[in-house]
Amino acid sequence: MQKKLNIGIVGLGQFGVHFVDLFQKHPDVGRVALCDIDAGKLARAAQRFGVRETYDDLDSICRSDLDAIALFTQPWLHAPQAIRVMQSGKHAYSAVPVIMPESGSGDETIEWCGRVIDACRSSGRYYMMGETTYFRPETMYCRARAQAGDFGAFVMCEAEYLHDTWLPACNLIHVQMARTGLSEREVLAIGGDVPMHYPTHSTAAPIAIMGAHMTEVSCMGYAHRNDEFWRTDSRIGNLFSNEIAQFRMSNGAVARITEGRRVGHVGHEGAVRVLGTEASFERDTSDEYVGMWITKTTSERVDPRAWREPLPIELMGDLGGHGGSHAYLVHEFVRACVEGRQPRVNAWQAARTVAAGVAAHKSALRGGELVKVVDFGDSR
Ligand SMILES: NC(=O)c1ccc[n+]([C@@H]2O[C@H](COP(=O)([O-])OP(=O)(O)OC[C@H]3O[C@@H](n4cnc5c(N)ncnc54)[C@H](O)[C@@H]3O)[C@@H](O)[C@H]2O)c1
Repeated sequence: MQKKLNIGIVGLGQFGVHFVDLFQKHPDVGRVALCDIDAGKLARAAQRFGVRETYDDLDSICRSDLDAIALFTQPWLHAPQAIRVMQSGKHAYSAVPVIMPESGSGDETIEWCGRVIDACRSSGRYYMMGETTYFRPETMYCRARAQAGDFGAFVMCEAEYLHDTWLPACNLIHVQMARTGLSEREVLAIGGDVPMHYPTHSTAAPIAIMGAHMTEVSCMGYAHRNDEFWRTDSRIGNLFSNEIAQFRMSNGAVARITEGRRVGHVGHEGAVRVLGTEASFERDTSDEYVGMWITKTTSERVDPRAWREPLPIELMGDLGGHGGSHAYLVHEFVRACVEGRQPRVNAWQAARTVAAGVAAHKSALRGGELVKVVDFGDSR
C-alpha cells in the first residue's frame, strides 16, 4: 500500500487556518500536526480541527518525523524557513511569495530564490509555492485550451492583481497590523510596499497558461499626489502605489501586468484577457466565473469552472477560497510528494513569478527602461 504523507502546518493566522481541513481530508495524507509560536492561536486551531499533535515553534516541528511542512507564516520569513524545512529532510510548501524583501531594490528576492533552489538540489526535497492563481478556474480553462492548441500561437496575456489598500472587505493596513503587531500609525510610517514585490497573483497567470516565462520588461509606476502611505520619506521609501508592466515572454508573446494597491475596484486577481492567433479568452473582472471564448466568427459565454482539473472525491464540495484554488494547491503538493515528482509551481517556477516583479520595479524606478528578468531555468 502507498505510504501516506504526514504533514505539519506552521502558521495558524488569518490564512493558514483555511488549509487545515483540506489537508485532513486528502486521502493521501496520514497525520496532520499544527504549529504556531502564538500559544493562543495554536490551542484554538487544535481544538477547532481536533488535532492532538502540536508544536510550539518551527525548530521543534523540524525535529519531528513528519514528511512535509506547509508554511503560512509572515511573508518575510518564507524563504529561510523553507530552507530550514528542506534541510531537516522534509518537503516544503510555502504560501506566496518566495519572500517579501525588505530592501527597495528586490535584489534580496533574487538571492533568496537562488538559495531555495540550492536547498532543493542539496536536500533532494520538493518545494512548492502555493500560488492560488495557478489553480483558479480561468487559469485551468485557458491552460486546457492552450494544451489542445485552441488559441493558435499566443499573442498576449493580460493579468492583474487589484487590491486597494483600504478595501472594506480586506483592508491591507489591518492585515499588516495583524502580521506585525504594530499600530496603524506605525504601519503608515513604514510606508507602502512595492506592488511588484508581491506580484505572484498576476505574473503566475501568463506563466501558467502559456508555459513560458518573462525575459524582459518595461514598467511604469503610478504615484498618487500627496499619498499618506506611498511616500519617499517613509521607511520603505517607495512612491508607487500601482505599477503597470509590459513583458516579453520566452515564447515571443507579450504579457501586460497591473499591480494596483490604490484603485477604485472591488478587487480582482489573475488573467483578464488572453489573445491567440486563432482564438481569445476574456474575463468579466466583476464576476470571476464568467468568461468569453472568442474566435474570428463566434463569441461564446463560458463558465471556466466546468473545465476544472479532477480532484479526489474527498476534496470536492467546498474547495476553499481564491476561486476554489485552495483544494488544488493541497492536492498538487500532496500528490507531488507521494509520486516523487517536482510540483508544478516548484522552486524554479516560483522564482520566475517573483523575478519578473523585481525587474519590473527596477524598470519603473528608471522611468520604464527595458530591464532583463533574471531566470534560474527549469527545474532539475
Ligand atoms: N492568495 C494567497 O495566496 C494569499 C492570501 C493571503 C495570505 N497569503 C500569504 O499567507 C501568509 C500568511 O498570512 P496571514 O495573513 O495568515 O499572516 P498572519 O500573521 O495572520 O499569520 C502568520 C502566523 O505565523 C506564525 N508564525 C510566525 N513565525 C512562526 C514560527 N517560527 N513558528 C511557528 N509559527 C510562526 C505567527 O504566529 C502567525 O500566527 C503570508 O505570507 C501571505 O503572503 C497568501
